[in-house]
Amino acid sequence: MKITVVGAGNVGATCADILAYKEVANEVVLVDIKENFAEGKALDIWQKSPVDLYDTRTIGSTNDYSKTAGSEVVVITSGLPRKPGMSRDDLISTNAGIVKSVTENVVKYSPEASIIIVSNPLDVMTYQAHIASKLPRTKVMGMAGILDTARYRAFIAEKLNVSPKDIQAVLMGGHGDTMVPLPRYTTIGGIPLTELMDKETIDQIVERTKFGGGELVKLLGTSAWYAPGSASAQMAEAIVKDQKRVFPVCVQLDGEYGIKNCYLGTPVILGKNGIEKIIELDLTADEMALLKASEGHVREVMEVLDKMS
Ligand code: NAI
Ligand code: 2OP
Repeated sequence: MKITVVGAGNVGATCADILAYKEVANEVVLVDIKENFAEGKALDIWQKSPVDLYDTRTIGSTNDYSKTAGSEVVVITSGLPRKPGMSRDDLISTNAGIVKSVTENVVKYSPEASIIIVSNPLDVMTYQAHIASKLPRTKVMGMAGILDTARYRAFIAEKLNVSPKDIQAVLMGGHGDTMVPLPRYTTIGGIPLTELMDKETIDQIVERTKFGGGELVKLLGTSAWYAPGSASAQMAEAIVKDQKRVFPVCVQLDGEYGIKNCYLGTPVILGKNGIEKIIELDLTADEMALLKASEGHVREVMEVLDKMS
C-alpha cells in the first residue's frame, strides 16, 4: 500500500519520514519539482531504516508521477511557505498554480486516492484542489485543524503543567487568524477546561493559538514543519488504516452549519473513504458568530482565486 507526498521540502519530508518510521504504508513516494531533491530525501529516510528499524520503502521522484500510481492517500505540500511579514493569503498567486497542476497529475495516476492539502492559503488551496480533482468533497480535504488544535493543546498543557496527552480539544473555521478554538469542548482528562483555568488565561491561550503559525514564522524565518508534518501524517494514517478518527479537518461545507460551498475546518470522522461524516456541533450564538466571521474571510480569498481563473 502506497502513500505519496508531493513537495519534499520541510513539511513534506517530515511527513514522509514519520509515515516511514511508523510503517503506516509499505511504500512512501516523495515527489518534488527540484531536480534530485526528492530522490535525496527519500534515500536519506531509507538509510535511517536500519537504525530506527522500519521497512517502509521510500522512493523519490523528480516530477515523474507514474511512480505515484495507485496511491491510497496523497499529501500535497508543494508551494511557497511564508516569510516574516507575509500572511498565508499572500501565497495564493504562486501556490494556486502549483496546487492545480500537482492535483491534476495526482488524480491521473491515483484516481481513487484521498487527497490531503497542506499548501497555503490552506482553505482556498483545498478549494483549488477540489475543483482541479473533480473528486467528491469526501476525498479532498485540508490539514490545519489538527495542527491548530495541537498548538492550543500544547499551550494548555504548559500552563497547567499536565501531559499534552490528556488534553482533548476541537477548533473550527479557517486556517488563519479567524480560526475558532472552542474552550467549551476542551477537556483535561475528561474535566472541562473551564473548571481548571480562568477565563482571562483561556482567552490569552486562544489568542496565542490564532497567531501560532505567525509566532513560528517570526522565530524561524519560514513556517513550521515538525508539527505540520506530523499532523498530515496522522490524517494519512487514519485513512489508510480506516481508523475512524475524529479530527478537525478542512472540507467543503454544503449546508452544514447553515454554510454552503465554503471550505472550513469542522470535526469529521476520517476512515478508508476519506471524510466519512461531518459532525455538526450545536454551537452557541457567540461561537456561530465567530464561525461566520471566519467564513467571510475564507470567502474573500476564494473570490481572489475565482478571479484568477
Ligand atoms: P518548502 O519550501 O520547504 O517546501 C516546498 C517544496 O515544494 C519545495 O521543495 C519545492 O521545490 C516544492 N515544489 C514547488 N513547486 C512544486 C511543484 N510544482 N511540484 C512539486 N514540488 C514543488 O515549504 P514547506 O515549509 O514545506 O511548506 C510547504 C507549504 O505548506 C507552504 O505553502 C506552507 O505555507 C504550507 N504549510 C501549511 C501548513 C498547514 O497547517 N496547512 C503548516 C505549514 C506549512
Ligand atoms: C502554520 O500554521 C504557516 O500554516 C502554517 O504554521
